[in-house]
Amino acid sequence: MPSMATGDRKNFNSNNNNNHPQFKSGVNNADNKFDDSFVRRKKIEQQRRSLPIASVEKRLVEEVRKNDTLIIVGETGSGKTTQLPQYLYNGGFCQNGGIIGITQPRRVAAVTVAKRVAEECGVELGQKVGYSIRFEDMTSTSTKIKYMTDGLLLREALLDPKLSKYSVIVVDEAHERTVQTDVLLGLLKGVQKKRTQSSIGSSNSYDHMKKGNNEKERFNEAGKLNPLKLIIMSASLDARGFSEYFGGAKAVHVMGRQFPVDILYTAQPETDCLDAALVTIFQIHLEEGPGDILVFLSGQEEIESIEGLVRENLKKLPEANQKLLIFPLFSSLPSEKQMKVFTPAPVGFRKVILATNIAETSVTIPGVKYVIDPGLVKVRSYSPDSGIESLIVVKTSKAQALQRSGRAGREGPGKCFRLYPESRFEGLDDSTVPEIKRCNLSNVILQLSALGVDDIIGFDFMEKPDRMAVIRSLELLYLLGALTDEKKLSDPIGQQMARLPLEPNDSKALILASQFDCLEEMLIVVSMLSVESIFYVPRDKLEESRTVIKSFSSPEGDHLTLLNVYRASVEFLEKNKTENGSDKAEKNLRKWCKDNFINSRSLKHARDIYNQIRENVERMGLKISSCGDDTLQLRRCLAASYFLNAALKQPDGTYRVLANGQIAEIHPTSVLRRTKAECIIFYNLVQTTRNYVRNVTRIDYLWLAELAPQCYALKDDKS
Ligand code: CDP
Ligand code: MG
Repeated sequence: MPSMATGDRKNFNSNNNNNHPQFKSGVNNADNKFDDSFVRRKKIEQQRRSLPIASVEKRLVEEVRKNDTLIIVGETGSGKTTQLPQYLYNGGFCQNGGIIGITQPRRVAAVTVAKRVAEECGVELGQKVGYSIRFEDMTSTSTKIKYMTDGLLLREALLDPKLSKYSVIVVDEAHERTVQTDVLLGLLKGVQKKRTQSSIGSSNSYDHMKKGNNEKERFNEAGKLNPLKLIIMSASLDARGFSEYFGGAKAVHVMGRQFPVDILYTAQPETDCLDAALVTIFQIHLEEGPGDILVFLSGQEEIESIEGLVRENLKKLPEANQKLLIFPLFSSLPSEKQMKVFTPAPVGFRKVILATNIAETSVTIPGVKYVIDPGLVKVRSYSPDSGIESLIVVKTSKAQALQRSGRAGREGPGKCFRLYPESRFEGLDDSTVPEIKRCNLSNVILQLSALGVDDIIGFDFMEKPDRMAVIRSLELLYLLGALTDEKKLSDPIGQQMARLPLEPNDSKALILASQFDCLEEMLIVVSMLSVESIFYVPRDKLEESRTVIKSFSSPEGDHLTLLNVYRASVEFLEKNKTENGSDKAEKNLRKWCKDNFINSRSLKHARDIYNQIRENVERMGLKISSCGDDTLQLRRCLAASYFLNAALKQPDGTYRVLANGQIAEIHPTSVLRRTKAECIIFYNLVQTTRNYVRNVTRIDYLWLAELAPQCYALKDDKS
């Protein structure tokens, strides 16, 4: 535990010859006042006009008119995401009923940006401007500018292969190269072709607009669809890859504004990154001039743990030094909390924003002058050998480090504190490997199969996934019964799995659960597993929390423990509602969560997900029944669904994953950590310094052969 007051501090080496060119300031630094709506609107108007992209509005609209596919490259914060859709709307691209869709890799970006744009347009969210993300739809029939996740648009393509309601689709943050973005790019290329073929005289179809007749933009005289306008937006300066992929599509660059950023490195490598980040936050707070701090952390858990530590340490400071406001920012944060991060700090206060790499390019937060970059990022990683996907924390690429430091120089000169020595920077990879090269592809294959694409290897990807990874993922889908021998979606299992907005394993668990008579329970378990960290344990309350959490824990494992937590919370809520009414009950629930070391926002999120997927399975006609206290049924169903994630105890107490021989330990947060069951199934494999399996449940070894004979043939002995 660092002791800020006693002057524990980090030594940073400054490297002043950073390569950020200096531009003249044009940004109006927001004065830190909370204002009434009129003044606020004026200020927003002014901010909009001062964005770098504003000076090229006409040209951009003209380029979109002239080119069916356009690549727009511009530095983070130049106004691409918030402004371009408005320019296109005003430029007449929605005139014949078509709408503008903008995809984001992250939920949080889709939500915050939609809110901002609705405010800029002076409309209520969900009317002209809306968003749609998995488990949450904020659009209506009047929505013209629709922000959404790329995964959501893929799902829409299932129902409407020509995406006919869109006149323009903007694929934003394409440089991130998430697997969904890559699939989407390939798919949109096809949609564009289909729409061009089905429209007459497509190459001239925009001539009439020049003549001032905008009415027939989406449909031509024959009532056929007009071509789809496709815009790829990226913050990386190299547009070549995208341009080549789209047959030499035109790329335009939007100049950004960037002030010099002083890059500082630690003298020594850090062993405890959280601690180093904490010390640096206070070092900046106590020693540097005004300006907000942005800290890049790898996930919700790290964020919440630092949040607690900052609060604790802050209390120890003299009152005059306590003017530091903390804002977490990660994807599963409830949206009203997400928006708070954009509120300027009151005069005399400093903000510290604890964010995942969402703040790297997806959202720009005004006021940031200091960036703390531990140089790490959590990514998906898949090994075709083992067939198991894990979440691992890895070093960022150089490109990511530059993006992160750039966040400090948006409104004036800034400083970036890299929590690693300069020599390490030199050794970083130049750019990040696209996710499609390092993830389990079974979900992608399932989605593409549902869209009628059976030949995954032959699909027009910008970068082909690894052949072995494709084969392994196909294998998994066979094992789950989702694909037939002809690589077609099986009926009904494959079809049903493709309809559920979940990973294939989770979908299979729900489908099987309806046969095992425990769908009610499995819905809860899958919802609880979809959110990160249900329990929230402050470092100084470890012992106390253990006792409290124990009251929920099931000797059978974490899945049942999660089920107990959910049931207990629902029971508490229902009882409270009858006694105190809905609002008060929700408030009391938050208190109940706090007392029980439960993360109330994660629990709320899990409840929302539960409601959504329950609706989904009801619509699919699956039988929802409960196994009550017969948890054996539920555990058997888990074994039948997650059979690839089965592991056996070794003599030394570690576990061997049966599918690939990998060795892992049970994560310290698991209820089975101490009891050590003989045979387990796990939900995630996390690699930090060691291999950990998380969310673990005890099963019987023999069930595997019985319930997953396609994978485990019964042998005479266990060796
Ligand atoms: O997409 P790009 O990175 O080019 O920029 P943007 O996201 O459109 O952001 C443009 C400006 O809007 C930035 O200066 C942000 O600070 C501001 N913004 C905001 O104040 N509140 C939001 N919720 C979103 C953006
Ligand atoms: Mg953007």
